[in-house]
Amino acid sequence: MKQVLISNDHGATVLKRRIKTHLEARGYQVKDLGVQDESSVDYPDVADQAVAEFKKGGYDFGVLLCGTGIGISIAANRHGGIRCALLYDSFGAKMSKEHNDANFIALGGRVHYHEAVEDIVDAYIDAEFEGGRHERRVDKLK
Ligand code: RB5
Repeated sequence: MKQVLISNDHGATVLKRRIKTHLEARGYQVKDLGVQDESSVDYPDVADQAVAEFKKGGYDFGVLLCGTGIGISIAANRHGGIRCALLYDSFGAKMSKEHNDANFIALGGRVHYHEAVEDIVDAYIDAEFEGGRHERRVDKLK
């Protein structure tokens, strides 16, 4: 079964449940490391824990959520081998896979998106890394 990792701080509990439900409907087994209520936690700790779990292997990709998606994506991208794309729309979501081979996506629970977040997530999932010149560029990130 395809496996995905999801985690969140207190700014994205509702969004987490929504995305998790969608991923499960798409056939993913979802490992949820995030908080389930509004008790305050620190997004760098959430990102560090999620990356450590991801690096154990077996996950197709990871989803990180905080109030804006900004802090948690910054924190995730401090780790070697992690390419976390902060998404705002399905175009960026598609490109983050096709050109950047993103292995994490980040969204914000307090952000007003102009598309359904499920569509944004789907655009990432359904895209494929194009390789070629993009592989050379991604390699330079390593
Ligand atoms: C928490 O209040 C908030 O700062 C966090 O969820 C996130 O938006 C940071 O980037």
